Amino acid sequence: MIGAVNRGDNRPIEFSGFCIMLRVILCGSAGDGKSSLIGCLSATLRSVPGGAAADAGSGRHGDWGFAMERHFLSNGERRFLIGDAPGHERHTRDMLSGASAADVAVVLIDASRGVQSQTRRHGYLISLIGVRHVIVAINKLDAVAYSREVFERIRAEYSAFAGQIGMPEPRFIPVASLAGDNITAPSPNMPWYRGPTLLACLEALDPTDHGRSAKPFRMPVHQVAGSEAKEVTGMLAGGTVRAGDEVRVLPSGRRSRVARIAGGQASSVTLVLEDAIDVNPGDLVAAADAPPEVSDQFEATLVWTGDEPMLPGRPYLMKGAARTVPVVCTSLKYKLNVNTLEHVAAKKLELNDIGVCNINLDQAIPFDPYAENRETGGFVIVDRLTERTVGVGMLHFALRRSHNIHWQAVEVSKDAHAALKGQKPCILWFTGLSGSGKSTIANLVEKMLHAEGRHTYLLDGDNVRHGLNKDLGFTEADRVENIRRVAEVAKLMVDAGLIVLVSFISPFRAERRMARTMVKEGEFIEVFVDTPLAVAEQRDPKGLYEKARRGQLKNFTGIDSPYEAPEHPEMRLDTCAQSAVEAANAIVDRLRQARLI
Ligand code: ADX
Repeated sequence: MIGAVNRGDNRPIEFSGFCIMLRVILCGSAGDGKSSLIGCLSATLRSVPGGAAADAGSGRHGDWGFAMERHFLSNGERRFLIGDAPGHERHTRDMLSGASAADVAVVLIDASRGVQSQTRRHGYLISLIGVRHVIVAINKLDAVAYSREVFERIRAEYSAFAGQIGMPEPRFIPVASLAGDNITAPSPNMPWYRGPTLLACLEALDPTDHGRSAKPFRMPVHQVAGSEAKEVTGMLAGGTVRAGDEVRVLPSGRRSRVARIAGGQASSVTLVLEDAIDVNPGDLVAAADAPPEVSDQFEATLVWTGDEPMLPGRPYLMKGAARTVPVVCTSLKYKLNVNTLEHVAAKKLELNDIGVCNINLDQAIPFDPYAENRETGGFVIVDRLTERTVGVGMLHFALRRSHNIHWQAVEVSKDAHAALKGQKPCILWFTGLSGSGKSTIANLVEKMLHAEGRHTYLLDGDNVRHGLNKDLGFTEADRVENIRRVAEVAKLMVDAGLIVLVSFISPFRAERRMARTMVKEGEFIEVFVDTPLAVAEQRDPKGLYEKARRGQLKNFTGIDSPYEAPEHPEMRLDTCAQSAVEAANAIVDRLRQARLI
């Protein structure tokens, strides 16, 4: 076995995770006694220097304890890294990043206050992210006269909650963190409790027992080298690998065998494959006999951490184990009330909301359900414009509906349609405030093109909203869907060889950008009808600004709903300096210059 020679032993490379220390995430609200608990542990254990070396990688959910207070302690044999989970909802992302790498969660509950909404929320997140061990420390028992009854009541309540959300059965310990009862030494005040102390519990946990090596082999590819035989480097994301193992590369499905293992540390591995098959960064190498599924539509849980809400239909990026791909939420099934665990109907997910939705990717990816593999089933959502992380998600399963829908080959192509009409199809996308003059100018342009014998169609917001989009209003979510649909229609019309004029306020950059990417470069001409709000309001052709100012019309663009002006439109029309006819002429001239007509 070449791999064995190379490594100097014959053990398989396996996911070794965080075996050098036990990672503990400490959850509780402010005032539950987190700091006195840490103080109590620090008094018995030794503080050790922390830092990057001791704190080896923690995966895509960010660095362990990013923005979290961390304590490095040691009992001589074992190190403990205790991360203090920020209590406030604002820090959900940090809480999740901490929990994603934790071996155990210690949930503090103040006995005098009982199970709070925050306690449930933390519990839900811990369980969602899949922390394997949970210890519930029911604290401040000294404040309730060390009452066994209070302890049992809270334990029963939390235990029922844990069962409902599928959390692993927690272990309950009655403690008093200020006095130190049952933290590092058994308490003489609670003779009715005969279980271990908190420290004894932590010492007994096996941090290597994460079950990852028992899973099928997975390795997202980060780097590829070599031509004869392929050298692929990536992170081990489950299972084990040895020289001689047969592997499959996904999504292509190509097979090869591992000739040797050219290097491997805790989680980064280089494999040399026997065959020079086509492998690329972003692919996934997997056990040939247990490959993951490949799909582009899923049901998933999303925890939203962005300040701007998640809107179905809006494009985002999904950063998975191997690659980053464009994604949209096609339907938001419900969001969750963490207190009652009720499913609540929703049109969007706001900061800290947890929802279940269907998502659609631009390309198929290999995946495992999150419950089976956190690395290949977990992802983060990134905003396309700001590039910030705005959500964390877990894949449940692939939706089968896409499997039975195929592209039907049509023989009269877009070019054939266009050739018959003797023109080049394109989209003229007019955007601007209500009353800016979009429809007037678009109408003039269409008349001029029509008079020249061009085949055109004008899609106008007011008209389309009487038919195709009559179910939509003016909330952010509805406007996103309004534009998504009209962009799809415009694209079909381009395929039919038409010059399509789209006249919609289309207030958001993200959706205009999506419309742009639906057609070929050069086929999308964004025309910004740049009329200042004051001017549009003064014109007020439909009397809507007046109504909005009187408070009789909600979510009116420019008044109480935003308009994001284009940054780089192909054309900008100043309707204060130009008449509608002049503007229309300028557009037709521009089409000529671009040889579109
Ligand atoms: S968009 O924002 O979703 O692109 P769209 O262009 O379809 O809007 O529709 C805008 C037209 O709807 C306006 O010209 C106006 O006549 C009418 N309208 C009614 N209510 C509103 C509102 N709250 N905000 C903007 N336009 C509205």
